[in-house]
Amino acid sequence: LAAGADPLQELLERVGRVARDSEGLLRQLVGSERRFRALAKSVWQVQEEERRRLARELHDGLGQDLTALKNQLELLVREVGGGGAGNAAGKDGLEPGGPAARGLAARLAGAVEIAARALHDTRELSRLLRPPILDDLGLVPALAWLSRTLGESAGLEVRVTSHGVDGRLDPDLEILVFRVAQEALTNVLKHSGARTADLLLLRHHGWLEIDVADAGRGFDPVQALDSTVDAAGSGLRGMRDRLELFGGRLRIQSAPGEGTRVHAAVPLPADEGPG
Ligand SMILES: Nc1ncnc2c1ncn2[C@@H]1O[C@H](COP(=O)(O)OP(=O)(O)OP(=O)(O)O)[C@@H](O)[C@H]1O
Ligand SMILES: [Mg+2]
Repeated sequence: LAAGADPLQELLERVGRVARDSEGLLRQLVGSERRFRALAKSVWQVQEEERRRLARELHDGLGQDLTALKNQLELLVREVGGGGAGNAAGKDGLEPGGPAARGLAARLAGAVEIAARALHDTRELSRLLRPPILDDLGLVPALAWLSRTLGESAGLEVRVTSHGVDGRLDPDLEILVFRVAQEALTNVLKHSGARTADLLLLRHHGWLEIDVADAGRGFDPVQALDSTVDAAGSGLRGMRDRLELFGGRLRIQSAPGEGTRVHAAVPLPADEGPG
């Protein structure tokens, strides 16, 4: 009986080899997954940093030029329309207070309005790209600001409530949760038909949770989250994928005619633990 020819022994060895191989593969897979997550996270961070830079450039560059333009135009309106001493238009042959001067003043006033609107839009765009209040004061004040902005600019009333979330949180989580609120509320505005929404933020057993609800027309979330359907937008899927990078999860309760509730939860780092 040759020892090497024992079929059972051979089989056992083979099973052992396969087990060792698959363990190695699994380790590699876990390693790749971890590297992939780290990479995806840093892509996200770079993207957010880029938004912050762009927001500042918009505010300080274009915003300041528009402010200067508006001021210049306002001075001209006063000079042309005012008619008083030092009236430049008068020297140039425009009769102060005459019909020509009044017409010019009206057109300049129109230009002031356009400049003011462009300035307002530029500032709002800059803040939406990256609200400074989020970096300066944190999540709850930033959500209150977002609610005010949506009320003023789009007529959507957002009722914000928060529990146990005072002070600052991990900066990445603050941005992550702010983006969830921003996307969910933009969806309410774009798709739901509702004019009000409720936003709840709370800290619960080491998790940070956010809930955005509307009583609008609702939809089928399974279809909206299906990555094989091209026609669907990318807002909800992007939200879900980003939350998963941070160990969080997204739940959507909705059905046609039933309103919508978007619930996101993300674990807080250990030192920001149960609150
Ligand atoms: N609050 C809501 N009420 C009604 N329908 C909604 C609501 N939120 C999302 N939906 C539906 O789900 C779809 C997918 O939403 P999602 O945010 O992923 O994409 P989008 O808003 O269409 O586009 P994007 O977010 O990329 O600009 C929407 O097109 C809409 O039909
Ligand atoms: Mg969307």
